[in-house]
Amino acid sequence: MATQVTVPAVRARKRGTGDPLVMVTAYDAPGARIADEAGVDIILVGDSLAMVVLGYENTLPITVDEMLHHTRAVRRGVKRALVIADMPYASYQVDEKQAVENAARFVKDGGAEAVKIEGGEKRVSLVHRLLDAEIPVMGHVGLTPQSLNVMGGYRVQGKTMNAIERLVKDAVALDRAGAFSIVLEGIPREVARIITEEVESPTIGIGAGPDCDGQVLVFHDILNLTDREPAKFVRQYADAAALITGAVAQFKADVEAKTFPADSESYHLPRETQMALEVIRARKKAMAR
Ligand code: KIV
Repeated sequence: MATQVTVPAVRARKRGTGDPLVMVTAYDAPGARIADEAGVDIILVGDSLAMVVLGYENTLPITVDEMLHHTRAVRRGVKRALVIADMPYASYQVDEKQAVENAARFVKDGGAEAVKIEGGEKRVSLVHRLLDAEIPVMGHVGLTPQSLNVMGGYRVQGKTMNAIERLVKDAVALDRAGAFSIVLEGIPREVARIITEEVESPTIGIGAGPDCDGQVLVFHDILNLTDREPAKFVRQYADAAALITGAVAQFKADVEAKTFPADSESYHLPRETQMALEVIRARKKAMAR
């Protein structure tokens, strides 16, 4: 069996020290099992769950309980990859004590090995508190979907000199605070490269170009399982929607044509029971005449 991926092993995977890190999201046991068997390093139970599985407009409404439910399912499907739970909006921004308690639930009840939080310098003190509670932290800067209302939409971040300076400071602050890895989302490739060079922890990009230490994509985006227009950075590796639609349509056609189920897809009584049953039914019919 392949060796389990650990937090120190991820932390050690800085560019040039091996293959780039591969992270993918998963939200249930079968998806997690498939991703794990495909050999990814990290499985993130992303709060993108809110949009791609639960049908919310954005990630803001999802709760700790909902995230925990799916984290447990993912945990049951994974043998090798590192499992990280995304802390949902308002579970860590309001109060640090409550944030540590929520994070501990993801580890203790959910079986996650680490948590991910969005935000840079302003999260430094929380990163310290989480590490004090033995909870490894993945950071996330750039286009942070939980800041949707502050950003005024899902916009590429870090395009002006001030914004670039802010972003680099945020990533460096997380790195120095002890985040073992940092997601860079929706930023120019050039800025992602600068950050990747500045920080010791590996960066994992999504819409941040190829110079990061690893890449992440959302499971449902890879498979064309969302109803949204894919972002520029998404590469679709398969059309699972077409596959599923075709399979369900064929099932419908077979039922309507009465070709499903076939005799070979049915259960049968043993021969003697069948014969005994026929005798009883014939007798009943005869008596009813
Ligand atoms: O929630 C999520 O899926 C994420 C990844 C896109 C990094 O945060």
